[in-house]
This record gives sequence, structure tokens and C-alpha cells, in this order.
Amino acid sequence: MKRPQITGETIWITGASAGIGLALAKKLCQHNTVIISGRHQDTLDRIVEQHPSMKAVVFDVTDKAQISTVQTALIELTPYLDRVILNAGNCEYFSIDKPDWLIMERMMQVNFLGMVHSVQASLELLKQASKQNKLPHIVGIGSQAIQAPFTKAEGYGASKAAVSYWLDSLRIDLAGLGIDVSEILPGFVDTRLTQKNDFPMPFLMSVDEAAERIIKGIVKRPLQYAFPKRLTGLLWLARRFPRRWMALQQQGVSAKDKSD
Ligand SMILES: NC(=O)c1ccc[n+]([C@@H]2O[C@H](COP(=O)([O-])OP(=O)(O)OC[C@H]3O[C@@H](n4cnc5c(N)ncnc54)[C@H](OP(=O)(O)O)[C@@H]3O)[C@@H](O)[C@H]2O)c1
Repeated sequence: MKRPQITGETIWITGASAGIGLALAKKLCQHNTVIISGRHQDTLDRIVEQHPSMKAVVFDVTDKAQISTVQTALIELTPYLDRVILNAGNCEYFSIDKPDWLIMERMMQVNFLGMVHSVQASLELLKQASKQNKLPHIVGIGSQAIQAPFTKAEGYGASKAAVSYWLDSLRIDLAGLGIDVSEILPGFVDTRLTQKNDFPMPFLMSVDEAAERIIKGIVKRPLQYAFPKRLTGLLWLARRFPRRWMALQQQGVSAKDKSD
């Protein structure tokens, strides 16, 4: 039988009520203690009912006022955390024709500040793991959207670029405390976040496959792990030929305008 890659750990996953976070929680709870978070108690309760080895802590990551309550709730559940998977996030697209400028604020709140708040709530427990000679690990879920500019992604892309820089910087400062930091850059994954997209999503993968790849990826504690590689290659070309990429993106927008 294949040995599980991550086993015997206590892991906190934010945004684990749906999509990638839930898929990770379901896989990891078979051999680990998994604490799941999301905004809605009833949703979390239903998941725990089906997976009794999971525990739940309600957390709206955008709400600074909840940080100390969440920290206390986590401390009541565990004396330390081996791994924290910072996954909670959302995507809203900006339209220059009907601009909702608050999208930029909302994207920074949930994707960037939400990650900051989650580290604030869990850092003490990661430090406790380090004191016990464990190898604590922060895993931030970013996005391949940072590899090249996408149309309408002014808010989403900028928030994920902020996440990327923040994790790079945090990694340097946490190294002395024995805490590793990895950034995961998924491509398109079939979740409710992408199900509302009305444009082609190259190399779209199932949420199950994405969770499998993330688990395989984080075992090696990379600085950054992007998948699928075919999309990484395409976006590498986009950066090499930025005007061509811009023209392709614009063509996509005008084709869509014509069909509306
Ligand atoms: N799907 C993709 O193609 C893709 C690609 C690259 C990166 N990602 C990233 O992967 C992460 C997960 O995305 P997904 O596709 O799995 O999306 P999803 O299916 O919509 O799930 C999002 C999760 O985040 C939680 N969440 C949203 N807002 C929250 C808030 N304010 N506080 C706490 N939790 C919140 C949701 O829980 P509740 O609604 O129950 O609170 C849910 O559990 C995101 O960071 C996303 O940017 C996704």
C-alpha cells in the first residue's frame, strides 16, 4: 500500500468549506488531525458530521475583530500546529464599462489581508511546534494569475501578487524561528470560483486532482510550486511577448463583446 505523504500532523486549513480547501481537508483528514475554517457554522458542522476526525473553527478572514477569538479557539483544540494552509479566497472580475472600484478593496481584504489575519491567528501555535522540534510549515495558496496580466483581473491578480511578495518576505523572517513558507500557484481548477467564468480556461483540472498535486507539492516544502506546468509554460511565453499576449487578451474581450 502507498504510504500517505503527510501523516500524524495537526493542520489548519482556511476556506475549507468548499472547493480546493475542502478537497485538501478530505484527503488530509484520513491520516492527520484537520481543523477546517469558513464563514458559516452550519456548513462546517455538516462537513464534520460526515468526517468526524475533523474539527471546525468559524472564521471570516476579512474580519480583524475575530482574530483573537479564533486564536483562542485554535489553542483550545491543539497545543501546536504543524501546518497551516492559507486557502480562503475569492475572485471578482472588474469591468471597465461598469466599474465597481470596490472590487479592488474586496479582493485585497479577502485574498491578501485574510491571509495576514490567518497568520496572526496561528503564528503562536506554529512557534509552539517549532519549540517541540517539529517542522512547522505555512502554505499560501496564490494563483498562476500572477505570472501574466489577465483581462478584468485588476483586483484578483493584484491581491495574489501582494500575497506572493508577502509570503516571500515572511519566509525570510520566519526562517530563524524554524517555520517554512511555501507558495502554491494553481492554474484553473473546477470549483464554484471558476464555474462562473465565461471564458476559456486552458488546462482546467478537477478539484480532486488539484488537491492531490498540492499535497504532493507541499511535502517537498518548495519556495514556490506552480501547476499545471503547461499553463506555466504558456504564461512564460506571455511574459516574453507581452504585446502579443495583450493583443490576445483584447481579442478575447472583443469576441465576447460581439457575442453579447
Ligand atoms: N479555482 C481556481 O481555479 C483557483 C486557481 C488559483 C487559485 N485559487 C485559489 O484557491 C483558493 C480556493 O479557491 P476555490 O477555487 O476552492 O474557491 P471556492 O470553491 O469558492 O472556495 C472558497 C473557500 O474560501 C472560503 N471563503 C471565502 N471568503 C471567505 C472569507 N471572507 N472568510 C473565510 N473564508 C472564506 C469559502 O468558505 P465560505 O464561503 O463557507 O466562507 C470557501 O471555503 C482561493 O484562494 C483561490 O484564489 C483558485
